[in-house]
Amino acid sequence: MGAIMNVDFQNCLILILLCLLSLLCYSFFFKKPKDGFNLPPSPPSLPIIGHLHLLLSLLMHRSLEKLSSKYGPLLYLRVFNVPILLVSSSSIAYEIFKSQDVNVSSRNFPTNEGFLIFSPLGIVSAPYGDYWKFIKKLMVTKFLGPQALERSQGVRAKEVERFYSNLLDKALKKETVEIAEEAMKLVNNSLCKMIMGRSCSEEDGEAERVRGLVNKSDALTKKLFLAIILHKPLKKIGISLFEKELMEVSRQFDEVLEKIIVEYEEKAEEHHQGTDMMDVLLEACRAENAEYKVTRNHIKALFVDLFIAGTDTSTHTIEWIMAEIMNNSCIFERLREEIDSVVGNTRLVQETDLPNLPYLQATVKEGLRLHPSSPIVIRTFEEGCKIGGFYIPEKTRLVINGYAIMRDPNNWEDPLEFKPERFLDSSRSSQKDAIKEEVLRYIAFGSGRRGCPGANLAYVSVETAIGVMVQCFDWKIKGDKINMNEAAGKITITMANPLKCSLVPRTQISLSSK
Ligand code: HEM
Repeated sequence: MGAIMNVDFQNCLILILLCLLSLLCYSFFFKKPKDGFNLPPSPPSLPIIGHLHLLLSLLMHRSLEKLSSKYGPLLYLRVFNVPILLVSSSSIAYEIFKSQDVNVSSRNFPTNEGFLIFSPLGIVSAPYGDYWKFIKKLMVTKFLGPQALERSQGVRAKEVERFYSNLLDKALKKETVEIAEEAMKLVNNSLCKMIMGRSCSEEDGEAERVRGLVNKSDALTKKLFLAIILHKPLKKIGISLFEKELMEVSRQFDEVLEKIIVEYEEKAEEHHQGTDMMDVLLEACRAENAEYKVTRNHIKALFVDLFIAGTDTSTHTIEWIMAEIMNNSCIFERLREEIDSVVGNTRLVQETDLPNLPYLQATVKEGLRLHPSSPIVIRTFEEGCKIGGFYIPEKTRLVINGYAIMRDPNNWEDPLEFKPERFLDSSRSSQKDAIKEEVLRYIAFGSGRRGCPGANLAYVSVETAIGVMVQCFDWKIKGDKINMNEAAGKITITMANPLKCSLVPRTQISLSSK
């Protein structure tokens, strides 16, 4: 009996201590909401951690989709004291970008000027303001805008030829091809050349190093979402989520980029002064009265952002689309017929052919709808405002689930099927697919002023890569169908089983550079 009393007393004591600790943490972490707030609905939460357990899934875009189908498309979540607005509806996304675009134009990532990844000196994490405006203007005029893309067409065409030659080589040697590996070389080499006027050298392992760093950074972005939400509460108790890894990858990027910049400066006279992005940035670095005082670290952080934002996204889009069309032989045949009739089979598909290849354009759009490589858009409401009739407090994190929006049966017929036809009557640039009756239903590249500035480059790169693969080779896979499962634990959606196939050359193409 004495023993039982003793255990009960101990349990009571533990319970009391736990309650006291909870109360202490509660007052430490939470500010009391003011009365009269009509906040959006909120699913049941746990004490202290709030909805953290709901966000810890390995396939986050999917668990968020489940959450919204159970509790509604506009949800107010809380992790410790961090408020989050989860949006899974195209009409609410439309309302936000129409009425609050400037208010949600900062991401507020946990940035650190000392690192090159997620640095406020780059573009992705830069707060909305003068520096972001300066760098965005520069990027559009020198790198990603329609005229800049026209100027750099030749650079990409050479890389597409190299891509074709690599595939042909593997085909002749009867080697298996890992699609993402070849696509990544194509995308990364084109990006390097466009940004820095030269590709990273394959011979001394530089290219491999940059690709390796991009892969490492992608692995870090897995933790980024958690860092965004948990940064402040954890910082208060002295815990950093991934500072060591960030520091190491930043240091390695710094090493590679410093070497590239020094070489660029040494060969300055070979470059057409002021024509590529590197020229303009180095000029702004030297100029006393430049529009914005740019440092070497700005240049490096910007390049790291562009490698991370532009490489994995386009690479895995190419992989997903190849998997879809290999699983759907009718789509593959229709694509090939279109390419044969417009381009023929003696030269490679070129960017200038793309406007005449509407089915190819529609196939790429459909691939991005069903497998958006960046499924979640993250921003912050700088000021309090009203959305959907509810009050949204200032500093609320905005999480838009593009994956759920682009699979919403209210907006898309047979949303889970791969049907390029649905995009056939509209061109790539038209807003029709995105905005239909005041809903924002196609959101693969985000939206508003912080929407993806690389969308046009992504479309032409992915379309030419898919075009060449369909035009020039017959593809074989092991088994009947490709497994379309998604890899767990990533922010970029990638295939759980990387796509590997064998290929047979179909036509004899003569290359312009040979
Ligand atoms: C299929 C390929 C791509 C996809 C699906 C994609 C998707 C996205 C998405 C969803 C965002 C967030 C937009 C928002 O917050 O509203 C974004 C931002 C961004 N993307 Fe892309 N992207 C792709 C390719 C590229 C390429 C090729 C580049 C350039 C080399 C690029 C550069 C950027 C940059 C710099 C940002 C941040 C813009 C800012 O904060 O102002 N992206 N992208």
